Amino acid sequence: MSSSRKAGQAAALLALVWALGAQAQPTGGKYTGIGRTATPAEVAAWDIDVRPDFKGLPAGSGSVAAGQQVWEGKCAGCHGVFGESNEVFNPIVGGTTAEDVVKGRVGSLVRNDYPGRTTLMKLSSVASLWDYVRRAMPWNTPKSLSVDEVYAVTAYMLNLGGVLPDDFTLSGKSMAQAQQRLPNRNGMTTQHALWPGKEFGGTARPDVAALPCMSNCVAPAARQSTIPAFARNSHGNLAEQNRLVGPQRGVETAQVAQAAAPASESVQPLLQKHSCSACHAADAKLVGPSWADIGKKHPGQAGYLAAKIRSGGVGAWGAIPMPPQSLSEEEAARIATWLAQGMSR
Ligand code: HEC
Ligand code: HEC
Repeated sequence: MSSSRKAGQAAALLALVWALGAQAQPTGGKYTGIGRTATPAEVAAWDIDVRPDFKGLPAGSGSVAAGQQVWEGKCAGCHGVFGESNEVFNPIVGGTTAEDVVKGRVGSLVRNDYPGRTTLMKLSSVASLWDYVRRAMPWNTPKSLSVDEVYAVTAYMLNLGGVLPDDFTLSGKSMAQAQQRLPNRNGMTTQHALWPGKEFGGTARPDVAALPCMSNCVAPAARQSTIPAFARNSHGNLAEQNRLVGPQRGVETAQVAQAAAPASESVQPLLQKHSCSACHAADAKLVGPSWADIGKKHPGQAGYLAAKIRSGGVGAWGAIPMPPQSLSEEEAARIATWLAQGMSR
């Protein structure tokens, strides 16, 4: 389907949605006629987050002893009897000391030679542990634990780590007490950089200030290499092996395998077929720059050029825009590679 026909259909569909929207009952807010207000029961089922100030924590309690039962029955198989297993995930318990419990800062986190990072080493809020277990564990049957079981098993993991005593009972009331003993409670930072950060004598700076690019942005990434023709079909036709929903589409490899052009074939027929030659010539400027000048300006930048050919653009060479070109990614990549490699064939 051509892109203009696609655009036309999209516009028609949009008009239809608007027309329907105008007739439907407004539900208030910016969007009208779409969906309905969630019921209190639906909201309650979603709204299970527990915050660091313990807001959202449901009533209940669980002892270390009860937690041992839960742990050994439902968690140890994956995480190890002592939370030490690293088979399915980093160990949960280990690497913290009695001194850390006093200081609230895990010493081994700033040691270069310490071999691992366990959950209890990094955790700065006991509410996060509680919340995570309640919503995500056991991994194979999440949300199957009762509230009391979550309290109990959380207490038991902290007991295994030497944070809570054997006779402790965790509840809404004693969560703050547990928080006060968490080994890394004072370790939270939002200023950490990529490895190695300042703590390790590195100079990397925190890189979490992401500003959206609005102008002069990097062209979208494009594929720079393709499977050679003889190998394309070695796993069967990829077009028949992908889901029919979502953006991923397998490439037709059955036909291309026979029809694919040998690497040395000229790109001239492609330039003709897609009317590139109407605006570009080998050595002279027409509407657009000459192939020779483009090649000189972007040596080795096949990825950039392939993206640019498909997206079009203006301003790189002057005020005349190049419209987006509707050719396949493969074709764009072949032309781009030819340009980036100095048009040697
Ligand atoms: C079938 C295996 C399995 C079982 C059973 C299981 N877990 Fe996990 N657990 C995992 C996996 C896998 C991860 C890592 C998940 C991820 O990162 O997406 C994990 C992660 C965790 C974490 C680490 C969170 C972090 O980011 O540091 C905790 C805590 C945890 N599980 C607690 C429990 C508890 C408590 C139970 C029992 C109620 C349990 N798990 C049962 C597989 C399991
Ligand atoms: C309607 C005329 C027109 C057609 C058709 C056209 N181009 Fe262009 N092309 C231009 C213009 C004008 C520019 C300069 C745009 C600019 O200044 O950013 C350009 C620029 C380019 C550039 C350089 C981009 C850059 O950022 O330096 C490449 C590569 C290119 N065209 C390839 C092609 C290919 C391949 C085709 C065919 C699939 C094609 N063009 C079809 C007019 C055209």
